[in-house]
Amino acid sequence: MKTPKILFYLILCIMSGCAQPKEKEEVVVYSYVEEPHSYARPNNAFINHLNLDISVDFDNEIIKGKATYDIVTNNSTQIILDSKHLDIESVMADGKETEFSLGANDKILGQPLTITITKDTKKIEITYKTTKDTEALQWLKPEQTADKTKPFLFTQGQAILTRTWIPIQDSPQIRLTYEANVQVPKDLMAVMSAENPKEKTENGLYHFRMKQAIPAYLIALAVGDLSYKAISERTGVYAEKSMHNKAFDEFSDMEKMVSAAESLYGDYVWEQFDVIVLPPSFPFGGMENPRLTFATPTVIAGDKSLTSLIAHELAHSWSGNLVTNSTWNDFWINEGFTVYFEMRIMEALYGKEYADMLALISRQDLDDELTNLKDTPNATKLKLNLKGKNPDDGMNSIAYDKGYLFLRTLEETVGRDQFDAFLKQYFKEHAFSTMTTEKFVTYLNTNLLEKNKISFNTDEWINQPGIPQNQAVITSEKFKNVDHILQEFIVESKFDKEVTKDWTPQEWVHFIRNFPATMTVEQMKTLDDILNLTNSSNSYIQMVWYEQALNHDYHGKNVDAKIEEFLTSVGRRWYVETIFKAFKRNNKMEDALKIYEKSRPNYHSVTVKTIDDLLGFEPEEEVIK
Ligand code: BES
Ligand code: ZN
Repeated sequence: MKTPKILFYLILCIMSGCAQPKEKEEVVVYSYVEEPHSYARPNNAFINHLNLDISVDFDNEIIKGKATYDIVTNNSTQIILDSKHLDIESVMADGKETEFSLGANDKILGQPLTITITKDTKKIEITYKTTKDTEALQWLKPEQTADKTKPFLFTQGQAILTRTWIPIQDSPQIRLTYEANVQVPKDLMAVMSAENPKEKTENGLYHFRMKQAIPAYLIALAVGDLSYKAISERTGVYAEKSMHNKAFDEFSDMEKMVSAAESLYGDYVWEQFDVIVLPPSFPFGGMENPRLTFATPTVIAGDKSLTSLIAHELAHSWSGNLVTNSTWNDFWINEGFTVYFEMRIMEALYGKEYADMLALISRQDLDDELTNLKDTPNATKLKLNLKGKNPDDGMNSIAYDKGYLFLRTLEETVGRDQFDAFLKQYFKEHAFSTMTTEKFVTYLNTNLLEKNKISFNTDEWINQPGIPQNQAVITSEKFKNVDHILQEFIVESKFDKEVTKDWTPQEWVHFIRNFPATMTVEQMKTLDDILNLTNSSNSYIQMVWYEQALNHDYHGKNVDAKIEEFLTSVGRRWYVETIFKAFKRNNKMEDALKIYEKSRPNYHSVTVKTIDDLLGFEPEEEVIK
């Protein structure tokens, strides 16, 4: 967006209730920037509270019910919501049936749902059903779960999928509180990004309340044979039975993470921080749904070695959920800050040496992404232009890793104490509101750079492709040692397993992903014979090793079957995409397509879409599940 059109809208905060409850009445100016991914026109009318009354029908794989909204209007005679693949039955305005229309369907955005109101309308009520094309939902058969006895359902809202299961104003700029009554089969438990039950109810009816205002992409629901185990008073895990003990042990540092995060950047305001371990087809590592992070079971390595992911989702409780990117063009405002914060939490818990290994992995991810994007340099800018694109396609790891490097470079330039004080104030001042890249730059200039008379090439970092010269240099003695051992192996064929006995999975990942292109099949075999990497139980090591097996045409220890097993059981997009890319890069498309035909039915729609595009796969009948 070159010249964002700022629209000012004056309302009484007390009337709208769309921000945090304030102690006294005050006038707040809400400004909405142009929104490329929502049909909502909040300056005319917006929603600020949702009451959801739905039932979850596993037999027909639909959610049906009513969504009732409190609305605030500015003399408007219509309100526009986003809707995609929904069956809208009827709409009422203040208890009376009213007219509505669904506009033309855009493949990415769905349809505008325009509802006739009067300037005095306070509530609208929509009766609707989801359809088989609803992209947010994944309905799982018992075989696809950990316990293999009961079905499971979860939603994924980010970036613009909430509109596929609830008609809503699906813009990160519009925040709402919500309540929900959710009816599920009696033997299952429902949980949401809200105050959650700790036990199953007798009749399968669950009531939820989210009293803090959140954007629509953070509304989430999961239904399954779940139970809860507390770690501390405000942290705990939801999981299926067979995962419970493992999850509890893996995440036992969660309270320490929350405390460390609070010491850095201010109070945790969401009261509860729980994690739900989802079935392996969950398309992300983690998703920061407020009060209840959704997580992949692949994070459970047995030794807490991948729990920086939990620190990451926790960090979003500040960067993302409290201070939210205004549009998906500002995605780095969510993810760059979160990676920075994640590293700081990890440093507080496990020390600088550990955090710097993570930072160096991010640094290498950044180099890899810059190589991937060498023909589309605009995609390497922090501020994106995703208009007309599916945000899901345009969001790459630049937001994460370049965003991180930018903030780390800033930290090293101004000094940690100053930077921490600045960030703490940033979160405090902008809590429960949204942030554009431009607004952040102004805030940074005023409150950190000009104040301390520091000159910094912020514009280059944000609006230019690639990485500026003045970048923080991250080093790790541990990784240097790994480089040395790899070098010795390649040059002198020397390898002593003893020296690797204390290696963390991060060192293994660094070792494996830096194999030179000239690595021979014999060398791969030698390593696998000594280290048995093909049979690693750490999902991250599996991913990088399988990628190298494909790069180097290694077929020992039945690794091909292992790769197939991995791809058909895990749906985490990053893992699956990395491996399918390796098939493609190494001209093994036939093998890839053979596996994909089997694994595709196990994937959530976001993974399906990515891999369909990558492999040029066209399903015979378009049933995205
Ligand atoms: N919010 C993201 C996941 C996401 C991003 C969903 C964009 C949809 C659109 C989440 O916080 C995240 O970044 N997850 C990462 C893990 C993290 C440790 C980098 C993931 O899933 O890999
Ligand atoms: Zn994130």
